[in-house]
Amino acid sequence: MSTHTSTDTDAARQHPVDEPPSGVTRRRLLGTAGAAGAAGLAVGAGASAGWAATRSEPEPLTSLGATRVPFHGTRQPGITTPLQAHGHLAAFDLAPGAGRTGAAALLRRWSSAAERLMAGEPWPGERAGADVGRDAGPSSLTVTFGFGRGFFSRTGLRSRMPRELAPLPDFSSDALDRARSGGDLWVQIGADDGLVAFQALRLLQRLAGEAARLRWQFSGFNRSPGATAHPTTMRNLMGQLDGTNNPKPQDEEFDERVFVPGDGSPSWMANGSYAVFRRIRMLLDDWDAEPLRDQERVIGRRKSDGAPLSGGDEDTAPDLERRRGGSPAIAADAHIRVAAPETNGGAAMLRRSFSFHDGFRDDGAPDAGLLFVAWQADPLRGFVPVQRKLDRGDALSRFLRHEASALFAVPGGAAEGEYVGQPLLEG
Ligand code: HEM
Repeated sequence: MSTHTSTDTDAARQHPVDEPPSGVTRRRLLGTAGAAGAAGLAVGAGASAGWAATRSEPEPLTSLGATRVPFHGTRQPGITTPLQAHGHLAAFDLAPGAGRTGAAALLRRWSSAAERLMAGEPWPGERAGADVGRDAGPSSLTVTFGFGRGFFSRTGLRSRMPRELAPLPDFSSDALDRARSGGDLWVQIGADDGLVAFQALRLLQRLAGEAARLRWQFSGFNRSPGATAHPTTMRNLMGQLDGTNNPKPQDEEFDERVFVPGDGSPSWMANGSYAVFRRIRMLLDDWDAEPLRDQERVIGRRKSDGAPLSGGDEDTAPDLERRRGGSPAIAADAHIRVAAPETNGGAAMLRRSFSFHDGFRDDGAPDAGLLFVAWQADPLRGFVPVQRKLDRGDALSRFLRHEASALFAVPGGAAEGEYVGQPLLEG
């Protein structure tokens, strides 16, 4: 089993794509060939419903199924883990009587379930969802846990609530649904297989038992690994490459921007991070009606390859001073100018989002957009100042509606034999 490495055992690499290796059904091969990026396979003709899997010999999993992300570690998984193809975000409220003991037992249950599922092992004695993912490998599953403000009052731990969890300010363009915002506990699930992701969500919801009730849940997706000929930055539903100018783990300031230091305060948040969640609906019909030139002006980057309008390629740093024909090459209200650390006193965050599509609204417009998740060491040096600025002067705003919002303290990772949040609940 690999930990974020590829195997080259793909059936598609070993066999011509039009000739399934013996013992492998065509359905299996299609999945494998997709993951290996083999182009030109006639999926439409072959992928009719009802094929039974009749393999006699088990084939090795492709890297997609076999990749395993460790649960234990200094930091929780799902923050710097490469984006997965499927995601679920769920918030729970603690039951009034659960208290600190109930919360600790819940976090212990949830942590051991996450550990097992992320290792590709079943959860013993629990049928809910267990059948769904059983023939899959870990598929890069990650489960990440966080605490909202309510968690601290309900567990009698208010005095240990970090100042960073101060409520987010109101923004003028907010259209928030309070019932789908906030929450005492947060679970972020990501996996490269949809059934594995669902299994984790279902099991955690069941294991909440009497201790916590689901408050809201959103499901999202990203491009599947292997779907493009070469790895690219993720595209969002507006069609833009999204994530280009994220802080990178190799940057000198990365840790300082994204994570609470190991000797940081409060001590139970050492190596943790703060996650801002926003459900941002895109007004896609309006967006699609804009000419390409105007779409690119709104962002300040080319849509095809993400190159900044000041020149170069995707990796070239945007030149905010550059002028073309008397006006700034990157417009004064372009999203990347208004959001850039340089124009926000250095404020930065790691954006790690999922797209969503929840059907169509009564007016026929897609209910679709971004489950925006931003990670930072302190929201006041990340999301808050940037969103204040975007709220006032971002050309992208007129194509967006912020409909749900939440802020969570995401503690550091659990050591072997421990559960997430133990230093807070038992410290
Ligand atoms: C649906 C809503 C949004 C869309 C479609 C969107 C799209 C994009 C795109 C295409 C880029 C350029 C590529 C990149 O560097 O990633 C970008 C950059 C960025 N966005 Fe957004 N964005 C959205 C919301 C937000 C929000 C709410 C924030 C924070 C409050 C934000 C902060 C940033 C930052 C910091 C950058 C990098 C700017 C730079 O340094 O170049 N974005 N966004």
